[in-house]
Amino acid sequence: ALTSELGKQIKLKEVEGTLLQLATVDNWSQIQSFEAKPDDLLICTYPKAGTTWIQEIVDMIEHNGDVEKCQRAIIQQRHPFIEWARPPQPSARNAKDCMVSYYHFQRMNHKLPDPGTWEEYFETFINGKVVWGSWFDHVKGWWEMKDRYQILFLFYEDIKRDPKHEIQKVMKFMGKNLDETVLDKIVQETSFEKMKENPMTNRSTVSKSIMDQSISPFMRKGTVGDWKNHFTVAQNERFDEIYRKKMEGTSINFCMEL
Ligand code: A3P
Repeated sequence: ALTSELGKQIKLKEVEGTLLQLATVDNWSQIQSFEAKPDDLLICTYPKAGTTWIQEIVDMIEHNGDVEKCQRAIIQQRHPFIEWARPPQPSARNAKDCMVSYYHFQRMNHKLPDPGTWEEYFETFINGKVVWGSWFDHVKGWWEMKDRYQILFLFYEDIKRDPKHEIQKVMKFMGKNLDETVLDKIVQETSFEKMKENPMTNRSTVSKSIMDQSISPFMRKGTVGDWKNHFTVAQNERFDEIYRKKMEGTSINFCMEL
């Protein structure tokens, strides 16, 4: 394993080529030996792909749209991250929007390395040298796996375009059957605007020394296509070329704008 100290003196280590936080690496054997029970549900997302969004959707479905029950705790406690070995989390979001969202997240999150300039971050991201590893490996890996296991593969862009339809898919996957009014309520309660104001989802309870939301809010924009405000024409061409090479042979298709 390799220890790298970047920007904010954050210590990270590589496990099989993937950069991870020390707390994760220290518990690696325990995490790797995790065995799911038949009714366990794991949410497997790349950072900034909409983890919090799908967590809230799943919790709302599980509690039949009961808003009060979903206020019982902050989202990090309702669905803990398995990699912090406090017990468990495919949803995918297009690489360009993930990169932009992750860049701003690393600017405000003092537990993650300083991203440097946008130009620097662009290189870091395409080389997969970010915490939790390469977007390309994550997406390709789960895409290849999806038909072999009981996996519901979701796209951020689809949830954005037609939340009700996608939430219905999650509901069926969870073996639930909720009526239209409950579904409509879940759509409303899990909208970006609602979740931005909801202290149980917007990370407002996290101390400023960890997440400084005055630098960039956790619920930042919640849109498809913000990459267009960040990528230069040259960066975009270069990215598309790298993307073609790295994603060669996969049938996955991402929507880049709505
Ligand atoms: P942006 O930075 O592009 O705004 P994660 O939860 O995996 O860290 O992902 C965070 C990203 O998902 C942020 O993207 C955030 O705004 C967006 N997000 C969170 N809740 C959302 C919602 N209800 N609708 C749309 N986007 C949402």
